[in-house]
Amino acid sequence: MSSSGQDITRQATPARMYDYYLGGVHNFPADREAAERVIAQFPLARAAAQANRAFLRRAVRHVVQAGVRQLLDVGSGIPTAGNVHEVAQGIAPESRVVYVDIDPVAVAESLEILDGNPNATAIRGDLLDPQAILDHQAVRNLIDFDQPVGLVLAAVLHFVADDAQAFDVVAQLLKPMPAGSYLVLSHGAAETYMPDTDQARVAGDVYKQRAATAGAVRTRSDVARFFTGFELVDPGVAWVTEWHPDGEVQPEFAGHPERCGIWGAVGRKL
Ligand SMILES: C[S@@+](CC[C@H](N)C(=O)[O-])C[C@H]1O[C@@H](n2cnc3c(N)ncnc32)[C@H](O)[C@@H]1O
Repeated sequence: MSSSGQDITRQATPARMYDYYLGGVHNFPADREAAERVIAQFPLARAAAQANRAFLRRAVRHVVQAGVRQLLDVGSGIPTAGNVHEVAQGIAPESRVVYVDIDPVAVAESLEILDGNPNATAIRGDLLDPQAILDHQAVRNLIDFDQPVGLVLAAVLHFVADDAQAFDVVAQLLKPMPAGSYLVLSHGAAETYMPDTDQARVAGDVYKQRAATAGAVRTRSDVARFFTGFELVDPGVAWVTEWHPDGEVQPEFAGHPERCGIWGAVGRKL
């Protein structure tokens, strides 16, 4: 039960559906049922979630190896192996990480695994209220806005359907971050999940009706627009499987990276 007395497990949430795609254990029957409806339309949803997670790890590694020691991860999800703080602190133990998610289960699970880690925490926050995130005491405690920051927005902006609002919230989050900061972003691809198809409509309805979260996929050039004022790290906006690959490509996507359906990019603020 939530503090308001509502049973928060009765409605699916994107965080717990994503946990189910990844094979995690932090999901309830409503999440599994909704996720299976999406998988019925897009059988590669699970593999795509894994590809996205793998991109996230490689991108964070790149940013920390470039010298960034503080990361703000908005829409961070339910922790699974190879979280942002594990990757960052594995390279530079002094790295500081703040996770932000709208789903209380994601925040509670994150706080549990971060117990005893003074350089990482998790807060509940809404991407649509960026100022509240930036002003949050936990963010102020761990993130020094005089130093470069890595802002991570992985597989979250497709939950902001309105274009103007999506670009605005990203710009607001980036505003206080100095030159040399990084943006790590991944996003559902309109080129793969073509919004005008029955498949996409059914999957979209699952999110809208069962998880109460409408979404929008975007094109490669839309994704590039989030990086206005940034220098993109090579190869620019790419299928996540093709962004600095470091091992075997998942068999589902070998020779067909577009099937992963997720654009990924990393950029450095000028
Ligand atoms: C697909 S998961 C991605 C998790 C993680 N970033 C990753 O890429 O592995 C999307 C996450 O965004 C969160 N989310 C959706 N809308 C949000 C919002 N308005 N503010 C903050 N988090 C949000 C969901 O709760 C979920 O945990």
